[in-house]
Amino acid sequence: MTNWKEIDEKAKIWVREAGQRIRDSFESTLSIQFKSNPNDLVTNMDKEIEQFFIRKIQETYPSHRILGEEGYGHQIDTTDGIIWIIDPIDGTMNFVHQQRNFAISIGIYENGIGYIGLIYDVVHDELYHALRGEGAFMNEIRLPMLKQVSIEEAILGINPVWVTENPRVDYELIAPIVRKVRGTRSYGSAALECAYVAAGRLDGYLTMRLAPWDFAAGIILIEEVGGVVSDINGEKLDILSKSSFFGGEKQFHQQIVKDYINK
Ligand code: IPD
Ligand code: CA
Ligand code: CA
Ligand code: CA
Repeated sequence: MTNWKEIDEKAKIWVREAGQRIRDSFESTLSIQFKSNPNDLVTNMDKEIEQFFIRKIQETYPSHRILGEEGYGHQIDTTDGIIWIIDPIDGTMNFVHQQRNFAISIGIYENGIGYIGLIYDVVHDELYHALRGEGAFMNEIRLPMLKQVSIEEAILGINPVWVTENPRVDYELIAPIVRKVRGTRSYGSAALECAYVAAGRLDGYLTMRLAPWDFAAGIILIEEVGGVVSDINGEKLDILSKSSFFGGEKQFHQQIVKDYINK
């Protein structure tokens, strides 16, 4: 039997230690590189923090596998066994330009089932955390279950790019949602936006393209407070595949999928 409490305690210690390393790095000059395009940034800290987690996990749990955004983990094609899905810095653009609004995100899964979700807002020292069946917390303060919300009263996290002409979605599908909700917000860190859904600061977060490391922790947090997570069509997410993402309060989620997406 997997001792999730022990793994959870260790993971929390490592996340806080990694956060301290990131805060310390504000004093030094970053080395910034481009990945797929000039807006897709990566820094020495993204790489160092991913390697930090890999060292810790491999020393302590050599049988666990690791899927990390920066590619220092394993090549993973099956959900068998225990997998740590790590985004060392989610919101790298914010990290580089703003030194805030970024997070460390870690989801820990066993045979495809999410057990631990950790999203650490490094600058605010706020650790959002969920353990399967035990609820979700922010710095050990329990997050309440989400309250029902109508579309008219909802605040939706969404990037404005999805209401411009783009190859991923017909923006005329998304624009009516943006018009109908009370307000929209765009924070530039998928993990933080998921944490905000879990904390009730956003009623939903919708995006057309995310990777497993962006949502692995967020799924667990949102589900632990009674929220629902799916792709934009309401279908179950595959934890190892890139896809669209829509997480939110149950009634709001259902209404959007039924009345606006699959109408
Ligand atoms: C990105 C952020 C951003 C989202 C992008 C992600 P990264 O992650 O979460 O908010 O819109 O799709 O790639 O690259 O900063 O870890
Ligand atoms: Ca990235
Ligand atoms: Ca990310
Ligand atoms: Ca990242």
